[in-house]
Amino acid sequence: MKLAVIRERRDAEKRVAATPETVKKLIALGFTVSVEKEAGDAASMPDSLYADAGATIGKDLKAALKDADVIFSVQGLEGADAKLAKKGAAQLSVLNPFTEGERLQAYADAGLMAFAMEFVPRITRAQSMDVLSSQSNLAGYKAVLDATAEYGRALPMMMTAAGTIAPARVMVMGAGVAGLQAIATAKRLGAIVSATDVRAAAKEQVESLGGKFVMVEDEETAAAETSGGYAKEMSDEYKAKQAALIAETLAKQDIAITTALIPGRPAPKLITEDMIKSMKPGSVIVDLAVEAGGNCALSEPGKVVEAHGVKIVGHKNVPSRLAADSSALFARNLVHFITPMVKEGALAFDFEDQIIQESLITKDGAIVNERLKPQPAGEK
Ligand code: NAI
Repeated sequence: MKLAVIRERRDAEKRVAATPETVKKLIALGFTVSVEKEAGDAASMPDSLYADAGATIGKDLKAALKDADVIFSVQGLEGADAKLAKKGAAQLSVLNPFTEGERLQAYADAGLMAFAMEFVPRITRAQSMDVLSSQSNLAGYKAVLDATAEYGRALPMMMTAAGTIAPARVMVMGAGVAGLQAIATAKRLGAIVSATDVRAAAKEQVESLGGKFVMVEDEETAAAETSGGYAKEMSDEYKAKQAALIAETLAKQDIAITTALIPGRPAPKLITEDMIKSMKPGSVIVDLAVEAGGNCALSEPGKVVEAHGVKIVGHKNVPSRLAADSSALFARNLVHFITPMVKEGALAFDFEDQIIQESLITKDGAIVNERLKPQPAGEK
């Protein structure tokens, strides 16, 4: 069994899908591992560390992929490179399946067996494989640090001989994995934190972290969560009520961190230009949903913009801004996924297994995933 770890090629991507630590684990499972040259450089993991762990270094993509049965990547091969992989090879990566249909077709045409790690079901057995959680957690933490870096004041209350500094007020919109970590981080830094979500279940979690929960509660919120624990798109009536509540709360905040996402749909617009105008000069918004269309009307992917005296941070790929840690966790997620698929030194995918069924995207020349077939809105 050969496993290839490729160098990432997308903009703003510094992560790598295996670390020297996980290479050792993969070798113990029975793989020979080939790491593409400089794959780990941007995550502070030079080729020499992979070689010391027992990997061979492939001089380019073609060399790394040669004869590989399994491919580990953070964002997956580009469609044009899919034909370099062995037919039937399994690729484990994040794929953005809803928005990258052409790439999926290229994978199918090349006979690749591609898995989308973001489609791994959030069942107990799969928690250790959950890349959404491992990466969002770090993104939520980093979002607060990015906000503090742009904010011209301190977060904690400070009592000094020269007088007292008031604590900053931080509002977190979307209290999922990233949002909860943002709340915890802002609290640790001494801010007064509030948070909002459409899922009523988030209330207890926010409060357990010491945040104040602010939410429009009506008959619709009871059904705002899918069976998978995700948010649904809300009605126009709900959105109007929520906008009024956010407008009122936001005007009193110094920092807003937005993390709201709806799987398979554009991110909900939560902060309008008028709301930005109502914020105090020097306030900061960090839009973690910027790449999914943004929660904030004026955020721009990859940029920090200033509008009406407010700085709006739209960094792309925030987990990659902590590349060493995000790579380490991502790499372990992949090892946890592949381990049960190795039986007596050979690959044996169990296609009846729920985790495999839900994350498998292409197989035997076709796109096979149920979620990629047309469905009613909000149910993806
Ligand atoms: P996500 O990244 O899809 O969305 C982030 C948050 O935004 C969610 O809390 C969502 O409810 C919220 N949101 C969506 N639309 C909104 C709106 N219009 N206004 C305000 N907030 C809005 O969610 P994430 O972080 O992936 O978590 C989704 C769920 O999965 C949660 O219930 C979480 O507790 C659960 N989960 C379960 C795991 C497991 O059982 N293994 C592991 C991790 C998360």
